Amino acid sequence: MKMASSDSRLQQLPSQKDAADQNFDYMFKLLIIGNSSVGKTSFLFRYADDSFTSAFVSTVGIDFKVKTVFPALLEPDDTAGQERYRTITTAYYRGAMGFLLMYDITNQESFNAVQDWATQIKTYSWDNAQVILIGNKCDLEDDRLIPTEDGQRLAEDLGFQFFEASAKDNINVKQVFERLVDVICDKMNESMEGDMSILPNHRNQGLKDSSSDSQGSCAC
Ligand code: GTP
Ligand code: MG
Repeated sequence: MKMASSDSRLQQLPSQKDAADQNFDYMFKLLIIGNSSVGKTSFLFRYADDSFTSAFVSTVGIDFKVKTVFPALLEPDDTAGQERYRTITTAYYRGAMGFLLMYDITNQESFNAVQDWATQIKTYSWDNAQVILIGNKCDLEDDRLIPTEDGQRLAEDLGFQFFEASAKDNINVKQVFERLVDVICDKMNESMEGDMSILPNHRNQGLKDSSSDSQGSCAC
């Protein structure tokens, strides 16, 4: 069950029933995590709706959108970064196949917190969950506090892939989601010999609808 949100923009989200009505081979549940205000909700809205607002309405609990990347349905869930919702959000980790762990390149605290978020993933998530580290707000070059190399180094240390991105200027948003799907598929092929039926959210409904609102494809 999804938590209600204080964010009026999220009233426009498709219902979970809409998602269930679609036909797709696989469902990849993804979580976007990171400190409050790093841009998780903005990133999701840019990806799913190609929209952006400079207003900041902090997320309560969890919200979600769905997006088809043929032949999979992505369910990227947007989590609240505020500490008081931590118990709610960690309860969702187990079902997620991939994480977008986000910090803000203009916010040192959000970068310092990456290690803690990574520990949370290791503690609460499915063992094979894949993670991409994202330095968001790369449009704010003048206010940058975290050099690109520091983000790269941290991602290497943690064994994650790394992107800098901007929800505002639509830089690397689609690419991040597509890369995450790719690494999930690669991991499946590599460690489970392509047996997708072991996925936590696998559905075998038959493939009817080949339409996709993304150019990304799954090369599983
Ligand atoms: P919580 O819901 O509290 O966890 O925060 P959040 O991570 O969802 O942050 P949100 O997406 O609400 O964005 C916080 C603020 O940062 C908003 O004012 C956004 O407009 C702004 N913002 C988000 N992404 C970007 C970006 O790429 N560039 C710039 N310049 N601002 C951004
Ligand atoms: Mg939010």
